[in-house]
Amino acid sequence: MRRITGYQDFADEAPLDLVYVADYTRMHLVPTGQRESYAAVAAGAIAKNVYLFAVSNGLATVIRAWINCAAIADALGLAHNQQVLLSQTVGYARTMT
Ligand SMILES: Cc1cc2nc3c(=O)[nH]c(=O)nc-3n(C[C@H](O)[C@H](O)[C@H](O)COP(=O)(O)O)c2cc1C
Repeated sequence: MRRITGYQDFADEAPLDLVYVADYTRMHLVPTGQRESYAAVAAGAIAKNVYLFAVSNGLATVIRAWINCAAIADALGLAHNQQVLLSQTVGYARTMT
């Protein structure tokens, strides 16, 4: 599934590719017009936690928006009110030879 999470080669090879999905069925207390921005902020906060964890554990990570959301949603079998927002790769920094 990793290769579906991004267009960049490293997504295929990295140990982990996270995919952030907004599930709007769980946001019924949020006005409809604000759900996407709230979900984006939440995804950003989580991604930052992953960045901080990675740097403090000698790992490399990068958030990715250059992704095929429809292909990922299809592969994950997501419903229409679940939206793929971003992906994030976690792995080891490539050593420059
Ligand atoms: C919303 C967002 C989307 C990004 N999407 C991609 C991406 O698809 N592929 C990629 O290689 N880097 C992506 N990046 C990482 C940026 O290229 C990187 O953050 C920027 O070059 C600054 O580098 P730094 O984060 O190491 O300081 C994205 C960054 C943000 C904030």
